[in-house]
Amino acid sequence: MPADYTPATIASVRSLRDTLEQQGKKLVFTNGCFDLLHAGHVRYLEQARALGDAMVVALNSDHSVRQLKGPERPLNPEHDRAEVMAALRAVDAVVVFDDERATTLIEAIRPHVYAKGGDYTVESLNREERSALEAAGTQICILPLVPGRSTTRTINKMHGGASAAAPVADGTLRLAVLGSGSGSNLRAIIAAIADKKLKAEIAITLTDQAESSFRETARAAGVPALYVDGGENPRRLSDAAQKEIFEHLERARVDVVVLAGFMRILKEPVISAYVGRIVNVHPSLLPKFKGANAPQLAIDEGELETGCTVHLVTAEIDGGRILAQAKVPVNIGDTAETLHARIKVEEHKLLPQVLNEWRERGLPVRGAGAP
Ligand code: GAR
Repeated sequence: MPADYTPATIASVRSLRDTLEQQGKKLVFTNGCFDLLHAGHVRYLEQARALGDAMVVALNSDHSVRQLKGPERPLNPEHDRAEVMAALRAVDAVVVFDDERATTLIEAIRPHVYAKGGDYTVESLNREERSALEAAGTQICILPLVPGRSTTRTINKMHGGASAAAPVADGTLRLAVLGSGSGSNLRAIIAAIADKKLKAEIAITLTDQAESSFRETARAAGVPALYVDGGENPRRLSDAAQKEIFEHLERARVDVVVLAGFMRILKEPVISAYVGRIVNVHPSLLPKFKGANAPQLAIDEGELETGCTVHLVTAEIDGGRILAQAKVPVNIGDTAETLHARIKVEEHKLLPQVLNEWRERGLPVRGAGAP
């Protein structure tokens, strides 16, 4: 490969596609970050290439990789990644794209076949990408993951394998904080860390709301503020989003996952992989008023007191082990907003306090069998 390698342009790939079509042949398209190539990638790309007569790889730019995977990635700059990728037997052309999704490229190139690796299903593909593929009449092929090969696994090994998985010597708890709303609990955690009331660091924050005070709060504190498209249902997470969140957590090597106003239901694979290490704050005295609108429900039921609960997260919604609760009186004339505001004052003390006591309470951290 010449040192002055330059990636292909969209126009040249589109022209390759048109030429192939005239010859009754097919262009395969796949996309990804391909940051640290391993045999899993090579085998996947060989299989993808076999679905047609030429293959273009759309490679996420450095900016795009940072948006998707956090500030520590990519390990290799886009030009190097493109050059290495283009040298592979299975790859005929590489284009670099700057968005988080390959939608615009799919629309411009209109490939005959789209290959995606991993445990996706057609239903769990990103919505925008899937509509662009359907509009272009592209055949979608999901190829199985090569077991035991992954960039995250390699990176974690390089961080020291088992020893990196062990609790940090000084007891600092490594957190991922997930939220969807105004981010006041996130601010409380950040403040408690700054005031040395909580011995923790926030490795990442994750939100399903691209424009939210939660995300702004994280950005203002200089903490990685990642966005995951949760899918159409505002209470559920698509399979693709569940998987994406799991991958973010794995990369960040966190001890505890904190749900601080995260309004979608977290399921597999995170629930099983992080058993006993996911904590939620909820604005009621559980088991009363599970689910959404808890302050309003307390008023509607004529409760004289309600409060907040910090509890472990299991597959049962708001049903995991209760770690701590604080009571708040319901005042005459309270609206859901006034009551919720007073509940939050208690949440802001209780959540950092429970996190600070995490090890004393014998709760699990990363390591010793945990991922
Ligand atoms: C908090 O009151 C939290 O208890 C609630 O969302 C609010 C988020 O506020 N969570 C739930 O209702 C979960 N079922 P914040 O964004 O200001 O931290």
